[in-house]
Amino acid sequence: MITILKGNIISADKINEFKIFKDSYLVAEDGKIVGIFEKLPQKYKDEKVEDYGNKLIFQAFSDMHLHGPQYAMLGTGLDLQLLDWLNTYTFPVEAQFKDQELARDVSQKLAKELVRNGTTRVCMFSSTHVDSTLILMEELDKAGISGYVGKVNMDRNGGKNYQETTEESLKETKRWLAKCNFKNIKPIITPRFTPACSDELLKQLGKIAIKSELPIQSHLSENKNEIEWVKKLCPDSKEYWETYKKHKLWTNKTLMAHCVHSTESELEAIKKAGVYVVHCPSSNQNVISGYAQIKEMLNKGIRVVLGSDIAGGDHISMFENIVDAIKVSKGNHYNSNYKIPFLTVEEAFYLATSASAPFFNERPGLAKNNVLNVIVLDDSNLAFTDKLSIKERFKRAIYTRQKDAIVAVYNGVKIY
Ligand code: GUN
Ligand code: FE
Repeated sequence: MITILKGNIISADKINEFKIFKDSYLVAEDGKIVGIFEKLPQKYKDEKVEDYGNKLIFQAFSDMHLHGPQYAMLGTGLDLQLLDWLNTYTFPVEAQFKDQELARDVSQKLAKELVRNGTTRVCMFSSTHVDSTLILMEELDKAGISGYVGKVNMDRNGGKNYQETTEESLKETKRWLAKCNFKNIKPIITPRFTPACSDELLKQLGKIAIKSELPIQSHLSENKNEIEWVKKLCPDSKEYWETYKKHKLWTNKTLMAHCVHSTESELEAIKKAGVYVVHCPSSNQNVISGYAQIKEMLNKGIRVVLGSDIAGGDHISMFENIVDAIKVSKGNHYNSNYKIPFLTVEEAFYLATSASAPFFNERPGLAKNNVLNVIVLDDSNLAFTDKLSIKERFKRAIYTRQKDAIVAVYNGVKIY
């Protein structure tokens, strides 16, 4: 099957640069990109062209950290810091995800909203419940989204109604893995975070991840009280990251959300292992975790990607999260007496798109053989469109965050 999209094409090939192809053709065969051409190659001359005219065509978003069941509590209960927030609001809401009807409803609404906002790839936490997690995976898959979803593991500190025994957690994880059979949504090992997982659970999850060659996602150094708690819970580990490393959960296919308070040595360990830091600026502000030093991480060569972390974060739109990342970095810029640079629009867009390409075994940008994973956006409702360059229009499109301006979304095939 051949797909040809015509319009103004933008590709984030490098972290600080957009490549712009005015009035060009983006060609894909069987859902994979063949190339971008100024003139349509002769061999495609009889194929149908989706002509998007003066619209913008650019990479769709990857949300590399969010909690599916927490979509039910989006925009509520954001008046506490992390640990109290988890106990008061989050765990009770996630516990309700056991109800499969509720899981179906939340998952369908979430999947629809992700696509509507141009998010085509996710790395998502579910709840501890296997059957509801399978429902979540099914609904994301059906909506045309790809990526990873994890059954959450937690055998301590979940409160009365939201905790597994170690044996249950492992048995259920194996039952879940045996049932994961979706086209584009795959399983990922998901210990919630060290305070919620015993040593034995982490150890066994590390073994499963190695045996089944699965990626891993968790939380790291998000909040100062959390870090102090980990020190008490795990006196054998000098630093938080070691609690994961010790159990072989520290790999180049590991995603660690937040890293707001990571020390120099923790950052060094992240870099050495090729662990991905998932920056979640909206969440970090809402539950008052602090300001992650993203520019410094990038300067050190650490792999940073972006996440909405709903419902600690309050927006599913990655336009919103890109702008949040820029604003948080400007806070850091100000606090450093203007010494630490802030994130540019180019950089923040890259974090929401190309930076996760290696996680999905792809190359940055709209590269050959990547999946045709794009958004088409119509900015004609804004004034001045004919006076701006394509690059200026694109930056404005990010800042103006108009999801209604998205007119089409492709992930291999057209999904919106
Ligand atoms: N740490 C452990 N669980 C969570 C969660 O659900 N959200 C956030 N933001 N941090 C966590
Ligand atoms: Fe989270």
